[in-house]
Amino acid sequence: MAKNVTVRTLAKMKQAGEKIAMMTAYDYPTARLLSEAGVHILLIGDSLGMVVQGQTTTVPVTLDQMIYHASMVSRGATNGAMVVADLPFLTYQVTPEDAMRSAARMMQEGGVHGLKLEGGKELAPTISRLVQAGIPVMGHIGLTPQSVHAFGGFAVQGKTADAAMRMIEDAKAIEEAGAFAIVLEAVPAEVAAAVTEQLAIPTIGIGAGPQCDGQVLVFHDFIGYTSGYIPKHNKRYASIAETIVTAARQYVDEVKSGAFPGEEQTVHLQASEQEAFQDLLQRKGERRG
Ligand code: KIV
Repeated sequence: MAKNVTVRTLAKMKQAGEKIAMMTAYDYPTARLLSEAGVHILLIGDSLGMVVQGQTTTVPVTLDQMIYHASMVSRGATNGAMVVADLPFLTYQVTPEDAMRSAARMMQEGGVHGLKLEGGKELAPTISRLVQAGIPVMGHIGLTPQSVHAFGGFAVQGKTADAAMRMIEDAKAIEEAGAFAIVLEAVPAEVAAAVTEQLAIPTIGIGAGPQCDGQVLVFHDFIGYTSGYIPKHNKRYASIAETIVTAARQYVDEVKSGAFPGEEQTVHLQASEQEAFQDLLQRKGERRG
């Protein structure tokens, strides 16, 4: 991917029917590898609360933590990927002024190209304010994990005809407010297809079927790094947990047996220095004796 991915690239991709690949990333080496592989958008998702920090929801994640991870990812996006970060829980919902302050910190300290905000039409004035200030905003509707306690769990959204119609209204309000793309999370495929068809901006799905304009996966789920519950929408492209455990077991065995470090990992004194060293050791030993 030679050229930088920008909001204009993404708009053109939607028009051309070219799919967008987005992936979460939380650190420098991952960002470098994903960018090198051609991932178009790297998302510093607040999912890091769950997959990196071991929290049960994304609610405890702070702005400072997000900025810390964003700055690493921004440095690693060396191959033109666009870098977008979540604003975390309650750093943008209270007032548009709060959102502006949080956005300024994330853009300046985190070095990202755009921000993602969770919420429907109630968020339109805030999105519009940020967009007017020159900040690219990605919306996020459907299952919005920062509202997990209000939903009563991580459940699929938009499952009735009325809820599906409300989702279309939310998506249109976010588009009208100036968002450049919108994430649809845990939404029936038929509803996501209708939203995608009705919007000019790209939709990026996670658990929202194949007709979205793009897809996003959580990196740790995608490489098989997470244990326990695996969301239905996830596809594991690698089994990194098994690779790590197998390697770590071998390491423990080799440390115990003395096979590690071997000759290849060992540095020796040159023969003349070794001789001089032995000499000094011996003389010191004699003085003590
Ligand atoms: O936090 C996150 O990783 C996300 C994606 C699942 C879209 O919001």
